[in-house]
Amino acid sequence: MTQFTAWDFKAGFYHRVRNIFPFGYILAKENENIRALLNGVKFKGKKVIDIGTGTGNALGLVPEEAKVFGLDRSLKMLRWARRDDRRRFIVGDALALPFKAGSFDLALAIGIFEYQKDGEGFLRELYRIINDQGLVIVTSSPHGILTTFRNLLGNRVYPVYISKFQNLTQESTMVIKGWKKSLLQHQWLLRKEIT
Ligand SMILES: C[S@@+](CC[C@H](N)C(=O)[O-])C[C@H]1O[C@@H](n2cnc3c(N)ncnc32)[C@H](O)[C@@H]1O
Repeated sequence: MTQFTAWDFKAGFYHRVRNIFPFGYILAKENENIRALLNGVKFKGKKVIDIGTGTGNALGLVPEEAKVFGLDRSLKMLRWARRDDRRRFIVGDALALPFKAGSFDLALAIGIFEYQKDGEGFLRELYRIINDQGLVIVTSSPHGILTTFRNLLGNRVYPVYISKFQNLTQESTMVIKGWKKSLLQHQWLLRKEIT
């Protein structure tokens, strides 16, 4: 079911300012970190899902040789993504993903974890939809004045300390394979751990 959120109001604004300084500079660093974490990952024939794809920024981080899907619950955000890309888009909720267990080789969750009150439940969903060798790139927001300021932009942000995120990851039985940070974001590479 489509849910109307603040993202539907600010979709066009968000898409347009993303590449303007200083936002463009911040985004470039975040993308650089994610590319570095994904360095060495083989994409040929792999299935990738970008959860909370928004206007589609992270789709560009995945080579064309992979099959890529974007999911978001905001139709307006997805419309902007569709302008730039003809990949498959799905409307859905990150906390109840409309996919069978083990459906993907890689799940991207860039700039979405921090908006989930139930971060643990979100990580459980990510774990569920990736296959046994599956990887996840997920980003989180650190505590700090800049993160607090983001609450004024219309969506509640739930920052986490590094140690808290590590605990959540352990509870979801994923292992941390890499970690990077930029001004507003921590980027994590996780791998499924079969128990
Ligand atoms: C900050 S934007 C990030 C967009 C994109 N990943 C990027 O890096 O530019 C957050 C996106 O997450 C989506 N979102 C937030 N909570 C969601 C949920 N529970 N299910 C699906 N999408 C969600 C919003 O609609 C929004 O498009």
